[in-house]
Amino acid sequence: MAQTRIAVVVGSLRKDSFNQKLALALAHFAPSDFTFEHVRIDDLPLYNQDDDGNQAPAVKRLKSEIAAAQGLLFVTPEYNRSIPGVLKNAIDHASRPYGQSVWGGKPAGVLGISVGAIGTALAQQHLRNILAYLDVPTLGSPEVFLQTKDDLFDDKGHIGNEGSKKFLQGWMDKYVAWVKSHSAV
Ligand SMILES: Cc1cc2nc3c(=O)[nH]c(=O)nc-3n(C[C@H](O)[C@H](O)[C@H](O)COP(=O)(O)O)c2cc1C
Repeated sequence: MAQTRIAVVVGSLRKDSFNQKLALALAHFAPSDFTFEHVRIDDLPLYNQDDDGNQAPAVKRLKSEIAAAQGLLFVTPEYNRSIPGVLKNAIDHASRPYGQSVWGGKPAGVLGISVGAIGTALAQQHLRNILAYLDVPTLGSPEVFLQTKDDLFDDKGHIGNEGSKKFLQGWMDKYVAWVKSHSAV
C-alpha cells in the first residue's frame, strides 16, 4: 500500500515536551497508510540571509525532508502569545533562498497544547498567517486547543481521556481527508 508521508514539526525542544507527546500520540489515530516523520529542528543554525547561497547541511536535510512529504503537521506551544523562535527559525530556513521554498502546496494541520487556558490559540493564529503567506493550505476546523490536564495522556503516552480521544479521532479523520484531497490535485 502506498504510504502518505507526513513531516511533523514540533515547536518545542524540551525533553518532556507536551507538544512532542501530543504529536506522538496523534499518530495512533491515523490510518496505516499514513506515516509520521518528525523533522529535527534543534541543530539548525540561526537563520542568516547571507548563508542562502551555502545552506548548512542541517538546513539541506530539513528542506529535503519537507520536500519529500505529502503533508505537514505542526504541533506547537505558545510562547509569549506567538510561536516559539525555534519554529519560526525552521520555517524561515525552509522558505529560502527566495523562490526555492519547500513549503508551498503541502497540506497542513496545526495543533497545540499549553499549560494555559487558551491552549495555544494565539500561537496557532500567528502560525496560520505565516503558512498562508507560504502557500500552505491549512485545515481550518476543527481547531485543536488543548490544555495539559492530568488524565489527558495515559502511562503509555496515548490519549487517555475518552472525550479527547473522540475529538482527536474526528480531527484526524478530517486531516487525512484534507491531505488526500490535496494530493489528488
Ligand atoms: C518563553 C515561554 C513563554 C510562554 N508563553 C506562553 C503563552 O504565551 N501562552 C501559554 O499558554 N503558555 C505559555 N508558556 C507556557 C507553555 O505553555 C508551557 O511551558 C508548555 O509546557 C510548553 O510546551 P512544551 O511542553 O511542548 O514544551 C510559555 C512558556 C515559555 C517557556
